[in-house]
Amino acid sequence: MSTVTTCPYKVLRDPDTVREVLHRPGDFSPANALLAVTPLSGQALRILQKARFALPPVLASNASPSHAATRKLVAGFFTPAKVAAMEPRIRQLSRESAAAAAQLLGAAGNVDLVQAVAAYPPAVIMLEMLGLPVRDLPQLKAWSLDSLELFWGWPDPARQLELAHTAADFYAWLRELVLEAVAAPEPNLFRALADHGLSTPEICSLGYFLLIAGQETTTQLISTTLFRLAEGSRGISWDEASSGAKARDIVRHVLATESSVPTWRRVAARDTELNGEPILAGEEILVELTGNHGFPWAAGEGTGEPAGEGRDHHRPTPYGLAFGSGIHRCLGAKLAELETVVVVQETTAALKGVRLQDPNPEWLRLLSFQAPRTVSVAHP
Ligand code: HEM
Repeated sequence: MSTVTTCPYKVLRDPDTVREVLHRPGDFSPANALLAVTPLSGQALRILQKARFALPPVLASNASPSHAATRKLVAGFFTPAKVAAMEPRIRQLSRESAAAAAQLLGAAGNVDLVQAVAAYPPAVIMLEMLGLPVRDLPQLKAWSLDSLELFWGWPDPARQLELAHTAADFYAWLRELVLEAVAAPEPNLFRALADHGLSTPEICSLGYFLLIAGQETTTQLISTTLFRLAEGSRGISWDEASSGAKARDIVRHVLATESSVPTWRRVAARDTELNGEPILAGEEILVELTGNHGFPWAAGEGTGEPAGEGRDHHRPTPYGLAFGSGIHRCLGAKLAELETVVVVQETTAALKGVRLQDPNPEWLRLLSFQAPRTVSVAHP
């Protein structure tokens, strides 16, 4: 990791202020939502350009009026009725993973629940709901983590080059998938977007965001929830979480205190004011949506707050901002919550009375993403 000394963002933590920013998209644009936190080097850019990698604004970073129609089209794949209808399938996949995890635990004496139960069900469900082929899942998972680090992390120059290469591979795989899906007879998201008039680069841009955001963030939420349950630190025991109501309680608690997406970005689109203070056009803003583990900026720089691990670990957001708010609010909120509750329920039911084998795992800690990289459990 390179040393980062200055916070380039105006950090907003007060929930009412955060909500106001998210509800004034004309003043506070999402145009910077997908920009690399660590600027890409010339060499990294050339690797991406060679792969014709481009992220034109389509959905999450689209500040233009075309956002509404694209959002409506994507939302059609995740309506409350469609999400509810997926519950049996989510339960089936969760049960299968939990049974396989129990077997592994029996055979090896321990099991990493991130790989065994958190990683795959959200990816399978997302691809099925989008009408896309379920394939190359281990690749998709590895690419997702690499791209999150490339765009939301602080890689040193050598690591940035490695990540640019895997992002280029991911993008090439995605372009193939888009071309195939657009020509497919079955209904699917990419064909619907093409019928709506989006170009291939626009569909790839949306696909790049959605294929990561639509599953890796849920994997991360499941991971943190299982970790806190196994740790026994949140007032709900591992065994209690096999009831649906308790599983929901712990998931909501984690969503408020240390969600997988604890922050998001906006940029001032014009000179404006916030709480009576002037904000200049171009100022970049980091809104805190939930409690988080802090950022690597030195104490006092930019935020006037101490930096580092553990800061505000337990500070909940009273208004449930975990999925954002306003016209860009997460389209997968209901699905992500349902998946997490069901996986947690089925896992705690199938692996009764386990204990945390490694109480201090490595954590993924990026500007806008956080989760334990492993949740290793064993029999007591
Ligand atoms: C725990 C899991 C998840 C978390 C914490 C999360 C969080 C977020 C956040 C904070 C935003 C930005 C909101 C804003 O700017 O106001 C967002 C946007 C979005 N999310 Fe999620 N998300 C999750 C899972 C999902 C899933 C499963 C899907 C789809 C299958 C999804 C699809 C989207 C889309 C399409 C947007 C952009 C919406 C727009 O710009 O109009 N997310 N998400």
